[in-house]
Amino acid sequence: MTKILVTGALGQIGTELAGELAARYGKSSVLISDVRKPQSFAGELEFVGLDVTNPDAIGSIIAEHGITDIFHMAAILSASGEKNPALAYRVNSDGTFNILEEARKAGVRKVMIPSTIGVFGAETPRINTPDITVLRPTTMYGITKVNAELLALYYRDRYALDVRGLRFPGIISYLTPPSAGTTDYAVDIFYHAVQGKDYQCYLKKDTALPMMYMPDALHSLVKLFEAKGDKLRHCLEYNVSAYSFTPEEIYGEIREVYPEFRITYEPDFRQKIAETWPASLDSHFAREDWGFAPEYDLKHTVQDMIQNLRKILVHQ
Ligand code: SER
Repeated sequence: MTKILVTGALGQIGTELAGELAARYGKSSVLISDVRKPQSFAGELEFVGLDVTNPDAIGSIIAEHGITDIFHMAAILSASGEKNPALAYRVNSDGTFNILEEARKAGVRKVMIPSTIGVFGAETPRINTPDITVLRPTTMYGITKVNAELLALYYRDRYALDVRGLRFPGIISYLTPPSAGTTDYAVDIFYHAVQGKDYQCYLKKDTALPMMYMPDALHSLVKLFEAKGDKLRHCLEYNVSAYSFTPEEIYGEIREVYPEFRITYEPDFRQKIAETWPASLDSHFAREDWGFAPEYDLKHTVQDMIQNLRKILVHQ
């Protein structure tokens, strides 16, 4: 019997992950939770309100619902984290500690925790960044995710808790618009193009960042979840990405479909964050250990995004 708790299930990745897990393991095997109240999920999957900064609430939910595994997706991302660093610390660091501690106490089988390219900093090699390297981030998001990576190792080594994760790059998706990260321009730009609006980009045109399309992000999480434990050399330190591009490059791809589309560049505080992150990642550990193999290249991503956003935005 499998019963998976998804925290942060109303976020950009959580929303789609919950559907993917339900399709794979059955609706009754997934319990979604978030600090916010659901709208679109109502009636589809069982929902419970959960603030991950409250350890007792986590413990009660695990016990009451017989939770066997956790996908801990709740987090405050890089841009929001800089607006409210104290909240980012509580949710990301205290929240992750609470999840690990309650999971350990209850004997949960597996805890999945996504990490991020936000763990890197200005002293990290920027090209083909390896998994094991300098981690000196300058954002509160990055600091709390380094903390999460180290906590995961601690719980694995000290308590034999099976904790797994990967470092996501920017995730491109159309279902739940992200609003809190530095990489989110790569989603916003599509919304503008499809709606016939000009786009003002908050990064400089030549700022390269690693990225990946949502279906590949979801398959990666599930693949890692199902992987044989003895093959895994890392805990959360698996770099994954499908491609890297600059705002100018993605603009060029979108203009092939929308030749009238215009972009201007007005860098803000997020430019400074992006400059401390890798331009590209070395994902060979993920490929070798658990078969990471993204299917969408940039062209295919752009086509699929535009096709789906047209359905949502234009034909509604
Ligand atoms: N998408 C995240 C952010 O921009 C990075 O993992 O904050």
